[in-house]
Amino acid sequence: MNNPTRVSKLAAQFIQKNDPTGWFEELYSQAEGNSEFIPWAESIVNPHLASWLDGHNLEGKGQKALVVGCGLGDDAEALSDVGFQVTGFDVSPTAVAWCKQRFQNTSVDYVVSDALQPEAAWKNSFDFILESYTLQALPESFRQQIMSTIVNYLTPGGMLLIICRGRGIQEDAGVSPPWALTKEELFFLEKLGLKQVSFEDYLDDNNPPVRRFRIKYLKVKGQGAGIKE
Ligand SMILES: C[S@@+](CC[C@H](N)C(=O)[O-])C[C@H]1O[C@@H](n2cnc3c(N)ncnc32)[C@H](O)[C@@H]1O
Repeated sequence: MNNPTRVSKLAAQFIQKNDPTGWFEELYSQAEGNSEFIPWAESIVNPHLASWLDGHNLEGKGQKALVVGCGLGDDAEALSDVGFQVTGFDVSPTAVAWCKQRFQNTSVDYVVSDALQPEAAWKNSFDFILESYTLQALPESFRQQIMSTIVNYLTPGGMLLIICRGRGIQEDAGVSPPWALTKEELFFLEKLGLKQVSFEDYLDDNNPPVRRFRIKYLKVKGQGAGIKE
């Protein structure tokens, strides 16, 4: 069902026309509701998020969370389950409609939005932001823009969790997404005013194992109530 070559070709077609996000809508709409055609969709909470939540006593109640590139919504639902008032956004209208259809009684607000075209109303609005696997799905030249958007959306004192594939700076990222990120490029988030609180660099239990980064940041500039743990 899930054909990596087909997905790579689709991504390349759009990226060549300088439309780095157009292929997502195409992929979701071509899937016609069958998640087996979506390579990252496992219909479960991302295990790297689930284990992180298990180890952190986040008090989401009364706090707002944002999920960047929410895909089919499982991670947004997990954050809602720990008490956050969650907004999940995705550039693909079909993905957003799919979330609403999957989770009909949800309290998550699923919206269509493009992180490359920031929403002015979301500035300094979210106490917790999750970014998993979206930066790595976009060419490097667009990632700093997405990082700036994310930092802009965080409240002062807010927390960002990034989950992504990781690589050393000497390792080749390859020609097709996902493109593993380097610690060096993630340093841009600190230039934007975030403080790195923890950096986990590990191999997952896939066969063969995949190197993952899971990084927690706080937005230190300015005043704010901050996230409660
Ligand atoms: C690799 S998928 C990961 C989805 C989800 N985070 C997960 O882990 O299952 C990347 C997601 O980000 C969305 N996306 C890509 N670029 C985006 C952008 N500029 N703004 C918002 N969403 C974007 C895609 O439509 C897709 O759903």
